[in-house]
Amino acid sequence: MKKLFLFFALLVGITSSGFAQSATDAEPASVWNDPLITFYIAIGFIFVVVLLVLLVAIYMLQVINVMTRQAAQEKSQKLGIEYKEEPSLWSKLWKESNDFVPIEKEADIMLDHNYDGIRELDNHLPPWWKWLFYLSMVFAVVYLFFYHVTDTLPLSTQEYENEVVLAQEQARKLQASNPVAAIDENNVTVVTEALALADGKQTFLNNCASCHRKDGGGDIGPNLTDQYWKHGGDVKDIFKVVRHGVQGTNMISWEGFISPEKMQNVASYVLSLQGTNPENPKKPEGEISKPMDGVKADTVNVQVSL
Ligand code: HEC
Repeated sequence: MKKLFLFFALLVGITSSGFAQSATDAEPASVWNDPLITFYIAIGFIFVVVLLVLLVAIYMLQVINVMTRQAAQEKSQKLGIEYKEEPSLWSKLWKESNDFVPIEKEADIMLDHNYDGIRELDNHLPPWWKWLFYLSMVFAVVYLFFYHVTDTLPLSTQEYENEVVLAQEQARKLQASNPVAAIDENNVTVVTEALALADGKQTFLNNCASCHRKDGGGDIGPNLTDQYWKHGGDVKDIFKVVRHGVQGTNMISWEGFISPEKMQNVASYVLSLQGTNPENPKKPEGEISKPMDGVKADTVNVQVSL
């Protein structure tokens, strides 16, 4: 009984979380935030109750069966007749759905030909199989009609496109409500506030200076103060390199280590290093990127003091 209870608890959990994964959910992270949670719980509860009722009904039927069989047995014993059991519903169903020619009668349906002892038994297909086949034909026609003739139901590519549109809508909403969390390489901008640049500098000193030098002059990583870039000198390019890294080099992906906002700040700080001419810089690498898109001339040489 305990196991049964655990099973149902699990079932309710699975069904409710399954429901919650619909694309319309704004916050798929937690089931419990879902506004429809009471609805899911109710559905799960009804499901469990129906299952339990069914189980009890089957059990009762079994008990009644046993009792009537006993009564019949006793009665035939009293009358001195041999008791013959009626075939059960299952065995009848089994027989009807298979309906094969029994082994004793196979000789009748054996075909005449004989190839080196290999002979053909002409038993027919089981009805359950045939009905499944007819059903699949009907299904195919219905499917064809709705999905390809009238186009009333969406095909999987259409479904995918619908989901993408929905997700984009959600992303737009999310960005509108919390612009900082939604910064990525497509919408990152150069920030010029002293506080943000100071934060960027701190991030740079903590995480980047070991390879790019404190002054950005370059060491293991390239010089970040000149106008030559291997991956582009736009703030979007720099953000992208910081976020995803450069595979196969020491420049790792900082996603998950540095928040998008801090990446924006550090990318802006890196750009503020342009033209600072540190001592012994690493020689230019990559291509010249001029003018630096998105960076206004007056923001390039922002002096940052902590
Ligand atoms: C372990 C060393 C290392 C660290 C730490 C590191 N980088 Fe890099 N970085 C590199 C290397 C190496 C490259 C060159 C990759 C290549 O060859 O394409 C690079 C490339 C870059 C580029 C592209 C330069 C160009 O020419 O296009 C930028 C921008 C950059 N790093 C910024 C950062 C920032 C910001 C941080 C700190 C969050 C950081 N890096 C931390 C090693 C490092």
